[in-house]
Amino acid sequence: MKKIVTKYTNGEITVVWKPDLCIHATICFTELPDVFVPYDRPWIKMEGASTDEIIDTVSRCPTQAISYFRNDNVSPEKNNEISSPEISIVKNGPYIVKGSVKLVDVDGNEIATDDSFALCRCGKSKNKPFCDGTHNNLDFE
Ligand code: SF4
Ligand code: FES
Repeated sequence: MKKIVTKYTNGEITVVWKPDLCIHATICFTELPDVFVPYDRPWIKMEGASTDEIIDTVSRCPTQAISYFRNDNVSPEKNNEISSPEISIVKNGPYIVKGSVKLVDVDGNEIATDDSFALCRCGKSKNKPFCDGTHNNLDFE
């Protein structure tokens, strides 16, 4: 299945949106509600804040659902930069896996992933082993 990737620019930077990686951690629209407006279309409004503010918030996305590149940069998507592998736990949410990590299924077959992905911890995802945001209204620490 082809993954959806949408780009939004203010001329200086471009924000890249990959909805399948969003775990609804709410950081983006809590921190910058004039830019990230989930119930509007387009949902990312690049005129809502300065470039630095947008970069700051995008860099806090726990997955790479939103990332950015500078328009004058030849090698895009340098933000949310990933170095050594790391696994972290989101409160009432998934495990966030970052870095060069191989994910294999019960038969040992490799499952394709991005450089950052979220693994379901609540057991309710319909897209296991990945988190699909279903945990949103659950409380399991
Ligand atoms: S995962 Fe990223 S894009 Fe999705 S709501 Fe959280 S901060 Fe926003
Ligand atoms: S942890 Fe997100 S759906 Fe289970």
